[in-house]
Amino acid sequence: MTRILVCYHSESGTTERMAEEIVKGMQKRAVDVDLKKVDEVHVDDLLEYDGLIFGAPTYYGLPSGKMKSFIDETIRCHGKLEWKVGGAFTSSANPAGGNETTVMGILESLLIHGMIVKGMPKGDHYGPVVIGEPDERELKQCRFYGEWMAELTEGVKGWTSKR
Ligand SMILES: Cc1cc2nc3c(=O)[nH]c(=O)nc-3n(C[C@H](O)[C@H](O)[C@H](O)COP(=O)(O)O)c2cc1C
Repeated sequence: MTRILVCYHSESGTTERMAEEIVKGMQKRAVDVDLKKVDEVHVDDLLEYDGLIFGAPTYYGLPSGKMKSFIDETIRCHGKLEWKVGGAFTSSANPAGGNETTVMGILESLLIHGMIVKGMPKGDHYGPVVIGEPDERELKQCRFYGEWMAELTEGVKGWTSKR
C-alpha cells in the first residue's frame, strides 16, 4: 500500500485544519495516510513513506522555526528521500503575507532531497494556502490537493518500484 505522511506545525489551529482537509482528499484514493504533528515525528520515520507533505504557518514570510528546525534535522537521512513525492502548504494572516514564499521555502528543501514536487495549473499553484479563517474555496483546494498528491504518489511508487 502506498504510504503518505502529512506532517504539520500549527499553534492556533489553521494549518492543522488544512492538514485534516488534505487527508480527507487523500482518503478518496487507496492510500494509507498518517496525519502527525511535527513534534510526533522522528526524522527516521520519514523513510517509511512514499509521499511526504509538510505544512507550517507563515512566520515572517518563511516556514515557522519549528518546521524549519525539523527540516534541518532531515540531514540525518540526506540521500534517502530521493524519489519520494513531496508537497507543502501554509496558512498566513495576510493575502500577500509571504505565504507563497513559505510554500516555496519548504519545496526548495524537498527538491534538495531529490524528491518529486508538482505544481497545479489551477487554483493554488505551489500548494494550498489559507489566509485568515479558512473559507470553503480554500478548504476545497486542500481536499483537491490531497487527492491529487495521493494519486501522484501511487503513480510514482508504481514507477520507482520498476526502476
Ligand atoms: C511569529 C509569527 C510570525 C508571523 N508572520 C506572518 C507573516 O509574515 N505573514 C502573515 O501573513 N502572517 C504571519 N503570521 C500569522 C500566521 O501565519 C497565521 O496566523 C497562521 O494562520 C497561524 O497558523 P496556525 O493557526 O496553524 O498556528 C505570523 C504569526 C506569528 C506568530
